[in-house]
Amino acid sequence: MIEVKHLTKRYGTRLAVDNISFKAGAGEIVGLLGPNGAGKTTTMRILTGFMPPNGGSATIAGFDVMRNSVKARGQVGYLPERVPVYPDMTVHGYVAFWAKLRGAPNPRAQADQVLERVQLSDRRNTLIRNLSKGMRQRLGLAQALVHNPPVVILDEPTIGIDPQQVIEVRDEVRKLGQDHTVLLSTHILSEAEQVCDRVIIINKGHIVAQGKPAELRRKLQPEMHLYVVLGGKRDGGEKLLRSISGVEAVEASGEGFNVRVKKGADIRTELIDKALRAGYNIQEMRPVMMTLENMFLDIIGREA
Ligand SMILES: Nc1ncnc2c1ncn2[C@@H]1O[C@H](COP(=O)(O)OP(=O)(O)OP(=O)(O)O)[C@@H](O)[C@H]1O
Ligand SMILES: [Mg+2]
Repeated sequence: MIEVKHLTKRYGTRLAVDNISFKAGAGEIVGLLGPNGAGKTTTMRILTGFMPPNGGSATIAGFDVMRNSVKARGQVGYLPERVPVYPDMTVHGYVAFWAKLRGAPNPRAQADQVLERVQLSDRRNTLIRNLSKGMRQRLGLAQALVHNPPVVILDEPTIGIDPQQVIEVRDEVRKLGQDHTVLLSTHILSEAEQVCDRVIIINKGHIVAQGKPAELRRKLQPEMHLYVVLGGKRDGGEKLLRSISGVEAVEASGEGFNVRVKKGADIRTELIDKALRAGYNIQEMRPVMMTLENMFLDIIGREA
């Protein structure tokens, strides 16, 4: 439903999107995950026909976003990073206006329907200026969905709203994914993992990694860390741990040691064996998982 090939975009001399290619299939929720300035918004603006790329191509439901932009735009709903607001319009008036722009045969009825869907019906006559941020975000979603497009592009849909509404918006995105292709951007790794079928990590305009969240987790998971507390003897523990094959680094931490282990190595049997023979006992031994957030920062950091 979305196909991006070798997309490149420059602002002056700054390369904002650098040869990006990816696909999103029917009914798939794909996340564009990246830090500030990664090129998420730029990619989405090109896909929604707001600006042309400098190179490469993109299609939405088979329509080229450049050569067939009217048709392509008809297939996609877009929630921009900053939802443009007309403070003096009512909620219903605004959505009906968009329905009309989108060529709906019955804009008012269409607006009613989509407001129901985003749970803003009870605010239909409220002036936009009086909506909370979260409600504005839902209004933006209503505007994106008003022509019932098969493809929905959401630029950081949960930014700046309270935790309860974040949960609601994420639920709504998952629901959308049942019968839409969704491309969503976020800089929150856990959000991408919770919501998306597939995640594309971009940094500085190019793709760093992509895959299903579980796959990515496996791929990005660096060496294992073990936390070990030795008892029985006071000294020499660090030296003993360093002597075990597969151990990359040992550092004292609290009562014990953080032991960094080479990827794929399992040192536990050897550790227990050597420690007991050297007269230690093992008071604690547990794997320390790196959080996803740390993994993400790690790969972004390695690029810097
Ligand atoms: N209109 C513009 N003119 C010049 N440079 C721009 C413009 N828009 C974006 N850029 C630059 O292009 C790069 C990518 O920006 P973009 O907004 O696409 O990133 P992003 O991933 O959406 O970031 P954020 O998470 O902050 O929204 C950045 O270096 C940004 O400064
Ligand atoms: Mg952005």
